[in-house]
Amino acid sequence: MNILVANTPQDAEQIAYTLIKERLAGKREFVLGLATGSTPVGMYKMFKQDRLDCSHVTSVNLDEYIGLAPDHPQSYHHFMEEKLFDDVPFKESHVPRGDAPDPEQETARYEALVRSIGVDLQLLGIGENGHIAFNEPGTALDAKTHVTELTESTREANRRFFDSIDEVPTQAITMGLDTIMNAREIVLVATGTRKAEAVHHMIESVPTIEWPATILQAHPSVTVVLDKEAASRC
Ligand code: GLP
Repeated sequence: MNILVANTPQDAEQIAYTLIKERLAGKREFVLGLATGSTPVGMYKMFKQDRLDCSHVTSVNLDEYIGLAPDHPQSYHHFMEEKLFDDVPFKESHVPRGDAPDPEQETARYEALVRSIGVDLQLLGIGENGHIAFNEPGTALDAKTHVTELTESTREANRRFFDSIDEVPTQAITMGLDTIMNAREIVLVATGTRKAEAVHHMIESVPTIEWPATILQAHPSVTVVLDKEAASRC
C-alpha cells in the first residue's frame, strides 16, 4: 500500500483527483470505478471545475440500495447524476439497478458486466466499520457482486441522507470484495476522525473479514490518501 497523508480533507481530495486525472490522460479508453458517499463529492466537483474530458471513459459504480429506482432522490444512481454525470459526459455509465425485479439476477448481470469490461482504476471510500462498497464485516473474501443486508451501524451512518432511519434501505447490491480486488489499480480516500479506527485496521491489522478493507493489503497497486485526522491512529 502506498499511503499519502495530507494536511486537510481538501488536500487529500486534490491528491486523489490529480492521480485519477493523470491516469485518464492520453488513454483512448478507460474504465473508472466510482464510489458514492460524502468522501468523493469534493473530487467530483474538481472533475466539473476542471471540465475534465471523460468522453473516452466508461464508469462503473460500486453499489446501489435495493428498492430505490434510479430516479429516487436518495438512490446512488441519482446521486451520481447530480454530483457528476449531469455536468461531465462519460462514454457510458453503469450503476446496479436497485429496482430490478430479481435482485439476484441483477447481481449476476452486473458481475458479468464488470468482469467483461475490466476496471482500470477503482475509487473507494471506507465505512466507519471498515466496509468497502457495501461489503460489511463478515463478508467472504471471495465474494462476487451480491445482495447484502446492511448493518444497523451502516444504516445509521447513512441516515443523514434520508428523512428518517425508517427510510434507509435494509439491503443493497454491491460489487464483492473479489470483484473490487480485480481492478488493476485502487485509490482509497478517507478523511476525518470518524474513519481513523477503520483506517488503522485497514493498514495495520492482520487481514480479517471483521475489517473488510484489510483485504486491500493483498492488492498489488493501492494508493490510500488520508487527511491527518483519518491517519491519527496509524
Ligand atoms: C457508503 C458507501 C461506501 C462509502 C461509505 C462511506 O456506505 N456504500 O462506498 O465508502 O458509505 O461514506 P462516506 O464517504 O459518506 O463516509
